[in-house]
Amino acid sequence: MKDHTGRRRRSLPLRMRPRVSWAKQQPTWQAARPALIAGALKRAAARPSGNWYVIGASRDIGSGPRPFGRTVGGVEIVAWRTETGELRAGPGACPHLGAPLRDSRVVCGTVVCHWHGLSLDGGPFAGWEPFPAHDDGVLAWVRLDALGGETPLDRPVVPRRPERGAVDAVFTAVGRCEPEDIVANRLDPWHGSWFHPYSFVDLTVVSVPEGPQGDDGADTDDGFVVDVSFKVAGRLVVPVRAAFTAPEPRTVVMHITGGEGVGSIVETHATPLGTDGRGVPRTAVVEAVVATSDRPGFVGARAVAPALRPLMRWAAGRLWRDDLAYAERRRQLRSSGRFPG
Ligand code: FES
Ligand SMILES: [Fe+2]
Repeated sequence: MKDHTGRRRRSLPLRMRPRVSWAKQQPTWQAARPALIAGALKRAAARPSGNWYVIGASRDIGSGPRPFGRTVGGVEIVAWRTETGELRAGPGACPHLGAPLRDSRVVCGTVVCHWHGLSLDGGPFAGWEPFPAHDDGVLAWVRLDALGGETPLDRPVVPRRPERGAVDAVFTAVGRCEPEDIVANRLDPWHGSWFHPYSFVDLTVVSVPEGPQGDDGADTDDGFVVDVSFKVAGRLVVPVRAAFTAPEPRTVVMHITGGEGVGSIVETHATPLGTDGRGVPRTAVVEAVVATSDRPGFVGARAVAPALRPLMRWAAGRLWRDDLAYAERRRQLRSSGRFPG
């Protein structure tokens, strides 16, 4: 097939699969041993985060006049950019009389409080101490040492991403659960084609983690490898191989290691927000899809090839509506002592 420029196009790796009814799939519950998931979760929890928390997509913090506000672990945060585009962050209450700085204005890279005009350029001022901030090009992070309580790291643990020609999309949702419930959902790949039959079919878990192999327990082989097909339309599917790892306690990464979009990743970050009025924890899922392809022409904005759309949709709301229901259910069972794991 040739495109409009007359160049030859590689055909998409679409496969037509016979229709199999949902109930006739191979059950996965025997393989999805609770102890296996719990072990992977425990090892993830033991890895260092250096007290870094994802606060949102880099592009959500623009250079316009509106600061960005987010509460992490009950800590109110304001973030903005300097005139040269650097990320700045600090406590979200004005050090004068406590105005919410998220509602203030950024003027020439400085936050100017809308109550009485106090200016913060990102350096310490009148008891206001900035938080270390990091922009990795896709996501924005802040370091909250008092909240994390770990040994601080200079930089967050950012997963290895595709190097060239990548397109990213970031999706955020909030659930009534804790970060570990989000991570536990992601470390259960067996639910894919049962719980999300509209997106996935033919899911096979190829290998499961054997446990830590290095002294620090952080070997990247400590993950799940899954063969799965993304549903495109009707009986058309795109088969891929994906590896799931947890590089730090609040992050699970899916690398596409075979099939269409090799090198693409989906990063799921769980950021604790705090508790609501009834003491129920709330957690934000910030999911970044960084997609790439070795197809000619996969550069720039027109890069989202039809075959990659299912991958980009991995981050879409429908999946996370269901996955948050899973995570919220897990949190409910844990808090009432009924969790079976
Ligand atoms: S509360 Fe911000 S300047 Fe007064
Ligand atoms: Fe899921």
